[in-house]
Amino acid sequence: MRSPWISIDFLGITFFNKTSSTVETLTIDKRKEERVIVDMGGPTINDAFPNLQGETQISKDFDLYEYLGDSWGIIFMHPGDFTPVCTTELGAAASLEPEFDKRNVKVCGFSCNDSSSHLEWINDIKVATGFQVNFPLFCDPDRAHATNLGILDETNKDAKGLPMTVRSVYIVKPNKQVALMMTYPASSGRNFDEIIRAVDTLQLTQDHSVATPANWKPGEKVIVNFPLSDAAATEKFGEDGYEVCKLPSEEGKDLAKHYLRFTEDPTLSNSDK
Ligand code: BEZ
Repeated sequence: MRSPWISIDFLGITFFNKTSSTVETLTIDKRKEERVIVDMGGPTINDAFPNLQGETQISKDFDLYEYLGDSWGIIFMHPGDFTPVCTTELGAAASLEPEFDKRNVKVCGFSCNDSSSHLEWINDIKVATGFQVNFPLFCDPDRAHATNLGILDETNKDAKGLPMTVRSVYIVKPNKQVALMMTYPASSGRNFDEIIRAVDTLQLTQDHSVATPANWKPGEKVIVNFPLSDAAATEKFGEDGYEVCKLPSEEGKDLAKHYLRFTEDPTLSNSDK
């Protein structure tokens, strides 16, 4: 996570702008004319997701880490309350509560609005989508947490001219590290089936020496972990436990490791195979 800093060199002053969550360079020397935007800061994969402490529509002293306990977490960032795409997204998230429970996942929404706004909006969501939002929606009306997370979009302002948050999703492991992030622009609603599928692949690949191929769904074949040699793969999956994909680049070579090897989903019971 990037924290506020400043550096001065002969070309200019470079600093972290906490308001816009950007790294900016102001020119002193005329040779460096442009204002450079480098990154938005905020947590990335394997960083600890910051503990959100404050208010939700349910509690005045919410503590994200306490709420998540030993569960996995999904934190959805929303551009704002009473916006059309977000309304459908929160309904979709609420409809998937049994799927999240099955996977030991707790969900938390987030927007730069207060709890009375969240409560009023939740009524609209119920009417619009048929689903009741029971999970907490974190309140960040002064944008302090959004700034720290680096999720404010300067190109997308609300009616007051303030930047709205981008549509980010963080999937957080039980140890509070970020396992996966996705970020969508305000105009594109997220695919909640994909979010569930992402949890399935994260949980599977954490527990087994496998990776999941494109568009994988539970029960389909998985990839033997790339770092495993063929000997190690045989030890792990058995003599006939995986298939090597015959590839032109490997033809005629005596290799200790073939790079594309498939095996059964290790969570399938023998009767499912
Ligand atoms: C929406 O959720 O529909 C939305 C949010 C911000 C800008 C535009 C659309």
